[in-house]
Amino acid sequence: MAPTLMIGNVPIYGDLILAPMAGYTDLPFRVLCREMGSAMSYVPCILDEAVIHGASMTDALLRFSSEERPVAIQLLSKDEDSLAEAGRRLLALDPDFIDLNLGCPARHVSWRGRGAALLCDPRKIGALVSRLTRAVSVPVTAKIRLGWDEESRNYLEVAHILEDGGVAAIGVHGRTKAQGFGGRADWGAIAEVKAAVKVPVLANGDVRTVADIAAIRTATGCDAVLIGRGAVGNPWIFQRRDIAGVSYLERLAMIRRHLAAMVAHYGEPLGVVLFRKHLLKYVQELEGAKALRQRLVTLESPEAVMDLLESWEPSRPGASSPSALEPRRVTAH
Ligand SMILES: Cc1cc2nc3c(=O)[nH]c(=O)nc-3n(C[C@H](O)[C@H](O)[C@H](O)COP(=O)(O)O)c2cc1C
Repeated sequence: MAPTLMIGNVPIYGDLILAPMAGYTDLPFRVLCREMGSAMSYVPCILDEAVIHGASMTDALLRFSSEERPVAIQLLSKDEDSLAEAGRRLLALDPDFIDLNLGCPARHVSWRGRGAALLCDPRKIGALVSRLTRAVSVPVTAKIRLGWDEESRNYLEVAHILEDGGVAAIGVHGRTKAQGFGGRADWGAIAEVKAAVKVPVLANGDVRTVADIAAIRTATGCDAVLIGRGAVGNPWIFQRRDIAGVSYLERLAMIRRHLAAMVAHYGEPLGVVLFRKHLLKYVQELEGAKALRQRLVTLESPEAVMDLLESWEPSRPGASSPSALEPRRVTAH
């Protein structure tokens, strides 16, 4: 089978990819999404200094599974020496790519000149990527936003600098740093990047449905689509299925699997507690699930979570009587 695209010398099979999301795209969720059809994995942002100084928490965050390959490990940096050193050290983990984060808006990060803050200093971006590409033997990729704010949308300049610096693919989130996650992603700007560079462009922002996938592909001409929030509670998106068409029984099976993977990875009760944000998304738009959600976030054992979910029957969408919108059997635990 011919690959959908090549990132450097690495073939990518498929055009939908789980976007990096710190706090969500941990190993269990990435493996699950990869199985569902995400074409590669990103280990989300890790500070270069944390890699160099090797704190144990960082080691846990850096873990990935061979089932996830191809895998990019994403770095946050503002210093060429540290970035090159961190990149070299990461090679011991044998990642397929190293990705430079140029979009993180978090204050504690960007205030210190990393992530999206680098968009204000394109020359620095050039220095960082050309140093990193020389330091490591795997392809280097980058993920950007459109600029710092509306007045400084310098995505074309940054994209050219990245390509000249030797990156093998560019992920573009169609918002500025100032926009955070609000408003609409500008897919037209992503199309401009695609037209301006020869390396693959991964389009990102506001893809939540199968129709959105087709629309962003048409609007941008991108090589692949990065899906972030739209995948939380809906890994079926990678099979090009909308959540509205996923039955409660299918959701239960997915929840059981995801929860078991979380408990295996983090232990109890941490795995259950960390799973809650996913769990709420799995049942988010089910009618009558408000009381269920309130109860679910109090439970600390996987058995209690599954017992409650299995004893709950979703009401049919469109049911006319208000009582029909309530869960019919909710047992106490
Ligand atoms: C909770 C959260 C954490 C994120 N963490 C990262 C990250 O570690 N690295 C990164 O490049 N982008 C990160 N992002 C941005 C996403 O990768 C993506 O660009 C953004 O959510 C827009 O895509 P979406 O509309 O599909 O969610 C994060 C987004 C969210 C919501």
